[in-house]
Amino acid sequence: MLGRVNHIAIAVPDLAAATATYRDTLGAKVSDVQALPEHGVTIVFVELPNTKVELLEPLGENSPISAFLEKAPSGGIHHICYEVDDILLARDKLVASGARVLGDGNPRTGAHGKPVLFLHPKDFFGTLVELEEV
Ligand code: CO
Repeated sequence: MLGRVNHIAIAVPDLAAATATYRDTLGAKVSDVQALPEHGVTIVFVELPNTKVELLEPLGENSPISAFLEKAPSGGIHHICYEVDDILLARDKLVASGARVLGDGNPRTGAHGKPVLFLHPKDFFGTLVELEEV
């Protein structure tokens, strides 16, 4: 079912500082800043040879990462995103095996313009899992 790791998302309290660390200290290629108000985050992509890291900073009042940062004020790994060929097929198999899909269970358009779903972290060893159809 799972393909490549599409990205690893890290919630950060200060996006400019995190971007500078990845660019200047770690020597990585970083994207421009993108505000995604419909997702409640501002993001920077760190482009690596085999995958991406997404640095996420809360945007707006109801950001889905605000509560996460309250518990982990210095930041932390928020989710890992795996690629799938057919997101509805993947969802139906997972639901049939007892996994919980967050939200209303239907794919939404993710940060890359492709359909995504999130799976409950308690079903996947404490890790929030995003699936993205590619
Ligand atoms: Co993601």
